[in-house]
Amino acid sequence: MSRLYQPSDYVVSKSRLPSFEQYKEMHKRSLEDPEAFWSEIAKEFYWQTPAEPGNFVSYNFDINKGKVFTKWLDGAVTNVCFNLLDRNVRNGHGDKIAYYWEGNHPDDYSRITYRKLKDLVCQCANGLRERGVTKGDRVSIYMPMILETVVVMLACSRIGAVHSVVFAGFSSDSLAERMSDCKAKMLVTADGAWRGEKLLMLKKICDEAIDKAEKKHGHKVETCLVVKHVDRVTPCGQLQEYTTWDDERDVWWQELIDEQSTICSPEWMAAEDPLFMLYTSGSTGKPKGVLHTTAGYLLYATTTFRYVFDYQDKDVYWCTADVGWITGHTYVVYAPLANAATSVLFEGTPFYPENDRYWSLIDKYKVSQFYTAPTALRSLMKFGDEYVKRHSLQSLRVLGSVGEPINPEAWLWYRQLVGGGRCSVADTFWQTETGGHVLTSLPGATPMKPGAAGFPFFGVEPALLDEGGQLITGEGEGYLVFARPWPGLMRTLYGDHQRYEQVYFSKFPGYYCTGDGARRDEDGFLWVTGRVDDMLNVSGHLMSTAEVEGVLTEEPRVAEAAVVSRPHPIKGEALYCFITTTDGAHFDQSLVDALKKLVRARIGAFAVPDTIQYAPGLPKTRSGKIMRRILRKIALNDTDIGDTSTLADPAVVEQLFKNRP
Ligand code: PRX
Repeated sequence: MSRLYQPSDYVVSKSRLPSFEQYKEMHKRSLEDPEAFWSEIAKEFYWQTPAEPGNFVSYNFDINKGKVFTKWLDGAVTNVCFNLLDRNVRNGHGDKIAYYWEGNHPDDYSRITYRKLKDLVCQCANGLRERGVTKGDRVSIYMPMILETVVVMLACSRIGAVHSVVFAGFSSDSLAERMSDCKAKMLVTADGAWRGEKLLMLKKICDEAIDKAEKKHGHKVETCLVVKHVDRVTPCGQLQEYTTWDDERDVWWQELIDEQSTICSPEWMAAEDPLFMLYTSGSTGKPKGVLHTTAGYLLYATTTFRYVFDYQDKDVYWCTADVGWITGHTYVVYAPLANAATSVLFEGTPFYPENDRYWSLIDKYKVSQFYTAPTALRSLMKFGDEYVKRHSLQSLRVLGSVGEPINPEAWLWYRQLVGGGRCSVADTFWQTETGGHVLTSLPGATPMKPGAAGFPFFGVEPALLDEGGQLITGEGEGYLVFARPWPGLMRTLYGDHQRYEQVYFSKFPGYYCTGDGARRDEDGFLWVTGRVDDMLNVSGHLMSTAEVEGVLTEEPRVAEAAVVSRPHPIKGEALYCFITTTDGAHFDQSLVDALKKLVRARIGAFAVPDTIQYAPGLPKTRSGKIMRRILRKIALNDTDIGDTSTLADPAVVEQLFKNRP
C-alpha cells in the first residue's frame, strides 16, 4: 500500500479549494447540474450572443443510437482571442506581464504585457488577412518556443483560422503529411532556433516539407511566413547558405507584420466552430487530426488551470512543454491567458548552459507553479541533488507532472527536493483528445499518492470496464473510459468523423475510450497503468508501433518489422525493433544505421529506436498475427514467456533470445 500525502498547511492556507470535502461537493455538483456549474464560469467571458439556457450541453456517446457528437453552449457566439486579450486589457490587466520570455542563451530574454501582446496579435492577424487567410482556413505552424508562436496562434483564433501546430522536432516528411492532410494555406516558421548548442534549420526543413507536400501529396502551400529569429541576435551565415527563398511564396514576418495596424476586428465564432487542430499518433500509423472547438475548450482550459495549479493573481507560472504538443496549447497559451496569468515561456533545454537551468529560472522569475514531464525530472535526477540545492526554489507552491505515469521515486524527488516537502504535486492525466486535465490531484484539496493520477476533474465521470464492457465498481483494474463529455473534449478527427467514432466510441458503446488502462485502489485513487493498444510513450511522446514499422519496412533490405516497447529508466519507454531481412540481404551495422537514419528522416529524432535486433523469423500465431507479448519478453530478456502453444513455430523464440544484441 502506498503512502498517502496530505497537502501541506502552507498550500492549504493559500488554496482557493482547501478541503477534500469541498472538492467532492463541487465535483458532485458539476455532474448533477452541468449547466449551472459551467454557466457560472461562462459569465466571466464576453459573449456576442450568450448560450441559451436549457441548451448548454447535448451529446450522444452511443454509436448504436446514431452519430456520436458533443456540443456545448450551442448557439453562443464569441471569440477566444478577444477573451484572452481585449477582455483582460479592459479589465485592467493591460500592464500585467503575460510572458517572461527566456531564450536559449541566458542573456537573451524579454517580457511582454497583455496590452502589447494584443497589439502584436492584431498586427499579425491583419498580416494573415492580407495574405488571404480567412475564417476556416488552416494555418500550419512549425516554430520554436518564441513569442511569435503564441502571437500567430492567437492571430488565427482572432480571424477564425484553424491553426495546426506541428512540433518542430518532426521531420520534413511528417510536416508535409500534416500540412497536406489539413490542406494548409499558410505555413509559419522561423529562420532557425538554437537548442542548447545545436542550431535547428527550421526554414530549410519547411522548404523541404513544402516541396514534398506538392510532389508527394499534390498540395500547394500558398504562403510561408518566416520569423527572423536566429539572425536577430547572431547573424548566422549558415542559415542563408541552406535556405532558399521564393519571393512569391515566402515573406519575412518583420516585413509583413511590423507595419500593420494594431486594430483588428475579431471574427465572431459560433461556440462549436473549430478553434484548432493538432495531430496525434494513431495506431494505424496515420496521424489523427484532433479537432477542438471554441466555447467548450475555453471554459475547460480556464477552469482546469485555475483549480489544478491554484493560480492566483501575483503568481508566476511556468509550463516547460513545447507548444507543439497539446500541453503547450492548453497550458502555455490558452489557459494561462484566459486567467490573465503571468507565465514563463522558455526556448531552451534544461541542460544548457548547465544542468540547473530549470532551477535557476525558477529563482530568476520567482515561479510559483512549475509544470513539467517525468522524463525531464528523471534526466535531471541523474545529475544528483547538488544542481537543485544551489537554488532557493522558495517561490514554488504547486508542482505539476504530465505526459506519462510518474514513477514514485521521481515523484518523491520532485516533492521533497524540488518542492522542499511543502509543495503539492499534481499528477495530471489527460490526452490531446481531452483538451485539458481529466484526472488529477488538486493542490489544497485532495490527498496524493506518488504515481497515482488521483481523482476526476469537475465535469468528468470516469469508469473502469472489463473486457466484456462490464463496469468495475470499487477496487479493480480495467479500461479507462469516460461516461459523458466535459466541455474540453475533442469533437471530431479533422475530415474523418468515421474514424473518430471507430477509434474512441466503438469498443464500448456509450463511453469515450481513452486507450489507457487504470486501477482504482482501496481509497478511490485512480492509477493510470499505461496504453492498452499498440501505442508507445517515449519521453512523453506518443507514437504507434505501426507508424515505426511502416518506416522500417521502407528499407529494401527489410522484409518484416515488429516494434515493441521496453521500459527505460529515463525515457519511460524505449523502442525495441525486430527485423527480418529479404533474401540475400545481410543484417549488419550499416543496416542498423540506415534504419535509424530513416526513422529520423520520416518521423523525427525523438522516434529513433534504441535497439534494432535481427530476427530470423517472428513469433506468429497460426493465423499469422505477431505475438507482441512474447517480443516484449525477449526485449526484456525475460524467459518467463508463458504459453507458446498457439505459435506457428515455437523454435523461433529461442533463436530470438540468442540473437539479442
Ligand atoms: O497514455 C497516457 C499518457 O499519455 C497519453 C496521451 O498522450 P498525448 O495525447 O500526447 O498527451 C500528452 C499530454 C497530455 C495518455 O493516453 N499520459 C499522459 N499523462 C499521463 C499519462 N499517463 C499516466 N499519467 C499521466 N499523468
